[in-house]
Amino acid sequence: MAKIGVFDSGYGGLTILEAIRRELPQYDYLYLGDNARAPYGTHSFDVIYRYTLEAVKYLFAHDCALVILACNTASAKALRTIQQRDLPLINGENGDASLNGGMMKRNVLGVIRPTVEAVPAITKTGHVGILATPATVSSESYVLELEKIAEGLQVTQQACPLWVPLIENNEHNSPGAKYFVGKYLREILAKDPLIDTLVLGCTHYPLLKKEIDHWLAYHQEIEESEFPTPISSPQIQTIAQGELVAKSLADYLKRHPEYREQLSEGGSCSYLTTENADRFSQSASHFLHSPIMANHIDF
Ligand code: DGL
Repeated sequence: MAKIGVFDSGYGGLTILEAIRRELPQYDYLYLGDNARAPYGTHSFDVIYRYTLEAVKYLFAHDCALVILACNTASAKALRTIQQRDLPLINGENGDASLNGGMMKRNVLGVIRPTVEAVPAITKTGHVGILATPATVSSESYVLELEKIAEGLQVTQQACPLWVPLIENNEHNSPGAKYFVGKYLREILAKDPLIDTLVLGCTHYPLLKKEIDHWLAYHQEIEESEFPTPISSPQIQTIAQGELVAKSLADYLKRHPEYREQLSEGGSCSYLTTENADRFSQSASHFLHSPIMANHIDF
C-alpha cells in the first residue's frame, strides 16, 4: 500500500499538507522539505528541475504513489518535464522496464492549476495580482494558465525574493518582515491600483498572511483618508492555496480509483528534511501548531 508524498523546498509545503490532511485525514503522508537547498525560487530551470526530480524519485522509492509538488516554483519549472519525460519511464510506459518494477502506478501533481481555477470567481474588477518567487514569475505560468481559462483578466506579477528566506530563517514576525511585506505590496499596487485579488503564489507566503493582511488593511485606510473620492481603491482579497489544492486532490482521487485504491488509510504523517532534523522539527511544530519529529535525509 502507498502513501501520498508532499514536497516543498522547505517549510512552505506544510501550509498545503495541513489543508490536505484536514480534507483527507484517512491517508498516510510523507512530507519532504529540501531545506538545505532552499530557496529554490532564485535558481535556474535546470537546478530546480534536477532538485525536484531527486525529491520525487526519493518519495517514489519510499512508497509514495502520488507526489504533490507543494511548491509553485517546482510546479512552474519542473512539473511538466517530469510528467512528460520522467514519469513514462518511471511507470514503464515506454516499453522499458519500469523503475519501480511495475508494482505501483505513480503520478505527480502541482499547485498552480487548482489555484488558477479559483481566481475568475473571486475577482470583481478583473485585475489580479500574483505574488511569487522570481522563478515562478519568470515562468509566466500563472499568466498563461489564467489566459487559458478566463478572458480579459488584467494580470500583474510581483516577485518577492526576500519573503522565503525570511520564513526559512524564522524571521517572519520581525520588523524586517514587515518592511519587506510592505515593499512588495506597495510595488505591485503601484503597477495596478485596481487589483482586488492577490494570489499568494508561493506556498511559504501564507506564513506571512497576518503581516500581508495587516498591511493591506492599513494601506486601504490611508488610501481612503488621502483620496476620499467615489472611486476608492477596491477591497483586496488574498488567496492562499491550501484549501484549493486539497479540494482538487480530493476530486482527483474520486476520479482516479487506480490511485485511490493503492493508498493506505492509517492517518499517519512522517516528516523528512535535508537540513538539521531538530531545527526542522522545532520550526515545523511552530507552523503546524502541533509537535512533530522529523528525520534527516540525504539524496
Ligand atoms: N514554497 C515554494 C513555492 O511555492 C518556495 C520556493 C523557494 O524555495 O523559493 O514557490
